[in-house]
Amino acid sequence: MSELKVYHSHDCDRSVLQDRHIAVVGYGSQGRAFALNLRDSGCDVTVLLRQQSTSRNVAVKEGVKTGELSDLSEFNVVIFAIPDHEQPAIYEEYFATDEVQRILVLLHGSNFHFQNIAFCENHGVILVAPHGPGRNLRETYLNGTGLSCFLAIGQDVSDTAKPIGLALADAIGAGKAGIYETTFHDEAVGDLFGEQTLLVGGLAGLTDAVFRTMVDRGIPPANAYLETIKQLKLLAAMIEEHGPAGMIERVSKTAAFGSLLAMPSLFDQTFQQRLEAIYYAIEGGQFNQLLLEEAKNDFQMYEGLLNLVKQRLSQKTSEQFQQDKEKP
Ligand SMILES: NC(=O)c1ccc[n+]([C@@H]2O[C@H](COP(=O)([O-])OP(=O)(O)OC[C@H]3O[C@@H](n4cnc5c(N)ncnc54)[C@H](OP(=O)(O)O)[C@@H]3O)[C@@H](O)[C@H]2O)c1
Repeated sequence: MSELKVYHSHDCDRSVLQDRHIAVVGYGSQGRAFALNLRDSGCDVTVLLRQQSTSRNVAVKEGVKTGELSDLSEFNVVIFAIPDHEQPAIYEEYFATDEVQRILVLLHGSNFHFQNIAFCENHGVILVAPHGPGRNLRETYLNGTGLSCFLAIGQDVSDTAKPIGLALADAIGAGKAGIYETTFHDEAVGDLFGEQTLLVGGLAGLTDAVFRTMVDRGIPPANAYLETIKQLKLLAAMIEEHGPAGMIERVSKTAAFGSLLAMPSLFDQTFQQRLEAIYYAIEGGQFNQLLLEEAKNDFQMYEGLLNLVKQRLSQKTSEQFQQDKEKP
């Protein structure tokens, strides 16, 4: 049971989108899924791309209407499906002095919550944030299950923000799986913290640390891979279905008992303090500031850090196994 208010298709009135011209800015992970799902739900949707866009050919091939970024002022619903750090400059260039009433749709909360964009009063600002990557959003639309999403209202104009947000969320398929109402704060902070410490940073970091410990003590890399990375997907799926304790109950007694002993020593008080420090750096806006500076710096620090992870034996071994799998 969720304490968040959750909406389904029968709570959403799609007719509010009938006279709306919807622009999806960008045709990457989320942009493609939003555009195709909205189009297949009968919406009038156009994908807007910069002139030199490498995605235009793909969009055209997939039968999506495309236009130029400079056409933005023709649309009354604008969905920002470009990287978060690129959005403030686009808003500033096309909308800073806009006097027309529009609905701006963000797919992640940071730019509104941390005030990276000074939205005009005449712009409704809503968040429709799918709980997964664009590929998943498209696949679940096509197979009819839908992918759940968050909905938040940041700024309203003429009481249109919520009905339009619900209709859009339903039209991308989320009405089938659940549209969870939240706030920009909770989505922005929760999303960043969850990905940094568990879904992306935590998983990649713990995987590599465990792998390295085994290999440094003489266990062959292939052996270490088969004992860890190879089995991650199955165990992650069990956590989603049954929760952490439910997963532990479903593995062997040996695995379960050893894990129950290891957990408190691995995730002790100092670990908790490090987690909290990351949380407060996100909530206090320091991470947001760092990301904006890094973007201005052409992601040089990012490239250096990524290269370190690419050099790890856990990465090389994963690549080797993938190549072997693809061999005929
Ligand atoms: N990816 C996810 O799993 C996920 C999940 C939930 C929410 N979100 C949110 O969804 C939003 C979009 O993320 P994404 O991962 O889908 O983005 P993405 O795949 O990186 O976006 C790529 C698209 O953005 C365009 N683009 C990049 N910079 C641009 C600029 N300066 N001007 C115009 N177009 C530009 C690219 O154009 P070209 O074709 O010209 O290169 C491309 O079409 C973000 O707010 C993100 O936080 C993402």
